[in-house]
Amino acid sequence: MASPFLLSTWSFSEPILESEYPNLSAGCSALDAVEACVRNAEQDKSIDSVGFGGLPDRNGNCTFDAMVMTSPSSSGAVCGIERHLHPVSIARLVMEKTNHTLLAGTLADDFADSHGMESANILADTSEQKWERWKKRSRDTKPLAPFDHGHGQLFGSHDTIGTIALDSHGTLAGACSTSGMAWKVPGRVGDSPIVGHGLYVDPKRGAATGTGHGELISGVNGAFLVVDLMGRGATPQEAIHETLDRIVSCWDIKKEYQVAFIATTPEGKFAGGALRAGFKYAICNSDGCIVKDPELVMLD
Ligand code: GLY
Repeated sequence: MASPFLLSTWSFSEPILESEYPNLSAGCSALDAVEACVRNAEQDKSIDSVGFGGLPDRNGNCTFDAMVMTSPSSSGAVCGIERHLHPVSIARLVMEKTNHTLLAGTLADDFADSHGMESANILADTSEQKWERWKKRSRDTKPLAPFDHGHGQLFGSHDTIGTIALDSHGTLAGACSTSGMAWKVPGRVGDSPIVGHGLYVDPKRGAATGTGHGELISGVNGAFLVVDLMGRGATPQEAIHETLDRIVSCWDIKKEYQVAFIATTPEGKFAGGALRAGFKYAICNSDGCIVKDPELVMLD
């Protein structure tokens, strides 16, 4: 059996994995570990694509989406969260306390209230300031593309956090969380809270999580496709390659589009791959913690 490890999208997650890895190697469950990692990102105001500090929709309101998953029969997710700081923990409540997989909007916030979660203002002052600047630029010039953070930066070093863990019992779990596409049309929900789109975990076949332009990931059921291909014998790198290939063949890939996946087999053979350069991922295992370039970058 592989020794425990944590795998997560984007370099910002490396210090988060490093702080959580001792708990995982001491016997904490994969599910507890991924929830703890994602909570950490959700409360970090400097990460403007996840949780508090995330960039709002075009009306200036923040909404959060998140999911947790341990198997096809065990997942929970929320979308359009408006007043709780830890959507990943509400997603876990959905998985553990209901017979459902996805709760949406203010009713999902009410569900969190009913389980004693504290309400909060989820719009950070920094997010509001960035939105004001974006709105002014949009008025003064042509409308900015979705995801353009207002200074020409497209997926510079961040987007959805997707974290996968294998624990010392050999159990896999995954979690992801996002504030969604910057300046999105209000009500838009991306890939992250949809089973098989932003995250998929199957103990027999492996786990995968996606980041980037959610519409592209959803269009091919990206995370499910990666895991299914691994189940049919592909390596993680081959499975990601075929999934990205499918995206490229289905869409007119604009220059601002980015999609990336990380994936692992149940035995702990892992890889990362992206449509474009810029994506990195983090891995923590008994050898230490590092930020890695993806094994595969499909386009220039
Ligand atoms: N991948 C995050 C989103 O598109 O919402």
